[in-house]
Amino acid sequence: MQKFKHIFIMINDFVYNIPVKVYFGKDQMKNLVPELKKYGNRVLMTYGGGSIKKIGLYDKVVKAIKDAGMELFELSGIEPNPRIDSVRKGAQMCKEHNIDVLLAVGGGSTIDATKFMAAGACVDHDPWDFLDLSKRSPIVKALPIVTILTLSATGSEMDQGGVISNPETKDKIGRLSPEMLPKASFLDPTNTFTVSPYQTACGAADMLSHIFEVYFNNNLDLYMLDCFMEGMMKTIIKYAPIAMREPDNYEARANLMWTSSWAINGFIDGGKRQPWSCHPIEHEVSAIYDITHGLGLAIITPRWMEYCLDDTTVDKFVQFGVNVFGIDAKLPKMEIAHKAIDALKDFLFNTLKLKRTFPEVGIDETNFAIMAKKSVNGGTLNGFKPLQQKDVEKIFEMCMK
Ligand code: NZQ
Ligand code: ZN
Repeated sequence: MQKFKHIFIMINDFVYNIPVKVYFGKDQMKNLVPELKKYGNRVLMTYGGGSIKKIGLYDKVVKAIKDAGMELFELSGIEPNPRIDSVRKGAQMCKEHNIDVLLAVGGGSTIDATKFMAAGACVDHDPWDFLDLSKRSPIVKALPIVTILTLSATGSEMDQGGVISNPETKDKIGRLSPEMLPKASFLDPTNTFTVSPYQTACGAADMLSHIFEVYFNNNLDLYMLDCFMEGMMKTIIKYAPIAMREPDNYEARANLMWTSSWAINGFIDGGKRQPWSCHPIEHEVSAIYDITHGLGLAIITPRWMEYCLDDTTVDKFVQFGVNVFGIDAKLPKMEIAHKAIDALKDFLFNTLKLKRTFPEVGIDETNFAIMAKKSVNGGTLNGFKPLQQKDVEKIFEMCMK
């Protein structure tokens, strides 16, 4: 009996079920119409501020849909850090035009907003009720969603999540639901050739954070998943700088694109699910300051690591430093851990050239208390190291220099 008790605490039970069909590569557009037609004839295409027009993708998609005799409706202007008003508009359009399927063409913001439009189309209440922490209306149904990804970062193309901002309440809130999983996602690395070096860097920081949120974990490890995660981290560290230097390097864009999906599609947290830390903290920062999500994470993450590092957590940092950055395993543990965090800082701030402090992105102490309180939801964030409001405030202070 004792033996089994030990086994039970090692690895959480989990269900593996990732049903998003992925069309990966540069010649997959021929599959778009057949994929959409599975769900009907009336398509709502959603997109952001116009990058898809500049890269010629808009024309290709519209032509394919119209040539197939399908009815196309459009909603453009979805903002980075997408707003609830865009979601409301989209849900309303779905109802008015009897939409059968939504086609999100863009980055995480467009896909996230589309997920809540799809869910909002199936209810009578305001879509914000899905997110509002005092309501959390159930998501029991959503219209089918297909995506064409244009920016490797969030993994929204293959995950259940979405994050929506409400400028009126200064909230930015995420929610997961299997109903919002895309039915199919088109991942063509050439669609990311025009992503700027800055957005490429922010995307890399975001993907890394998705992996860190799982890798730095108190549960005993599934060694197989740790190796997988270390491989993904090395992939990002290798290819993000190449994509920044050579935007049309297919190999680099392809490696980043597939990593963005696998960093958050649910595979790596099988067996080691725990609440995340840096994401809830960053979401409160971008809720107020509207900064790019990956940039906020880049500033916060190394400080969070420094704050979490102690005798009880050092082994994980050693594993990270030795396996990902190749730091000499013979050095004292604490030294390896500090070197690992320094190596991460060097990657984020020197190689990716992201800004390193809050003041550099226009953030001062004014909102520290409220952001910290909201990020722990008034209690404790039970992630890698339990954090309360005062802890998050200290992490914010560390971001000042
Ligand atoms: O709006 P357009 O004109 O398309 O321009 C966008 C936008 O300005 C541009 N862009 C996208 N593809 C491009 C391109 N520019 C040139 N060429 C292309 N091919 O990039 C800018 C940023 O786009 P956005 O969609 O906002 O970026 P990202 O994909 O990083 O999404 C960020 C949002 O996703 C949320 C974040 O909080 C943030 O709101 N997240 C969603 C997650 C999820 N669904 O699971 C998890 C993440 O942790 C994250 O929280
Ligand atoms: Zn993220």
